[in-house]
Amino acid sequence: MNFLFLGDIVGRSGRDIVLSELPKLKANEEIDFVIINGENAAGGYGITKKICDELFAVGVDVITSGNHIWDQKETADFISSEKRLLRPLNFIEGTPGSGCEIYSLKNNKKVAVINIMGNIYMKKADDVFNCIAMRLQSLKLGKDVDFIIVDIHAEITSEKMAMGHYLDGQVTLVVGTHSHVPTYDFRILNNGTAYQTDAGMCGDYDSVIGMNKDGALKKFLKQPNLERLSPALGKGTLSGIIVRADEKTGLAKDIKPITIGAHFNQRSI
Ligand SMILES: [Fe+2]
Ligand SMILES: [Fe+2]
Repeated sequence: MNFLFLGDIVGRSGRDIVLSELPKLKANEEIDFVIINGENAAGGYGITKKICDELFAVGVDVITSGNHIWDQKETADFISSEKRLLRPLNFIEGTPGSGCEIYSLKNNKKVAVINIMGNIYMKKADDVFNCIAMRLQSLKLGKDVDFIIVDIHAEITSEKMAMGHYLDGQVTLVVGTHSHVPTYDFRILNNGTAYQTDAGMCGDYDSVIGMNKDGALKKFLKQPNLERLSPALGKGTLSGIIVRADEKTGLAKDIKPITIGAHFNQRSI
C-alpha cells in the first residue's frame, strides 16, 4: 500500500502546485492514499471549506493541521461534520473536531491517521507522548487497523525524533510538520516505522517558511508598523514523502522524499 504525505500547504502558491501536480503524481507513483497538512492553506492562516473541497477533488484523502487550525472562523463550524479534516488530538477535551480517524482503503484495508501537536515552543496542549500512548492502547496494527499514519506538528526536531523512536514498530509512519523545511533524514527505524523529521512545505520557497520575505525580515529587524505577514506568491514547490507499506504487517518497506516544482530542482534520489 502506497502513501503520499505532503507537508504544510502555504497560500495560493502551495495550493496551485498541489492542485496541478497531485493527479499526475498519484498516477505515476501508484499512490493509494494521500494526506496533506493544510493548516496554512488559506492565505497562510488556516483552511476553509472551499479549499478542503478543492483538495479532496484532486485526490487528497485526509487533511491534517496544527496550531493554525482555527485561524479561519468558519473552521470550527464545519470540522465536526468533515471527518477528513483533523485537528491535533491533544487539544483540550471538548475542542471541536477529531485528532484521529479511521478510513477505508481498497481491499477492505483500514488506515488510521493521527494528528498530534508537540509541547515545546507550541501552544498549550495535553502531553503529546501521553496522549498518543493512550490512543494507541486501542489502536493496534494488524488488529484494529492495517496502517497508522502519524503527523507530529512540532517546532523542535528532537521532540519529533523522540516521537519517531517512541512509536517505532507500532505505526506505519511518523512524519513531522510545522517547520516548513524538508529535512533529509528519511529512513525506516529499527522496528519498521518510516520516519522523517519534517515533510517540508508546499509553497513558495523564495520566502521565509512560505511567507513574504520582506515582511518577515522587517519583523526580525524589529522595524515599526509591521503588517500581518502574507504568503509569498511566486511559483510553488510541492514537498513530501512517499511510503510503501507492507500489507501484512502495516510497517514500512520503503520511504523516499518527493519534491516537484520551482525549487530544489537539483535534488535527485
Ligand atoms: Fe505550518
Ligand atoms: Fe504550525
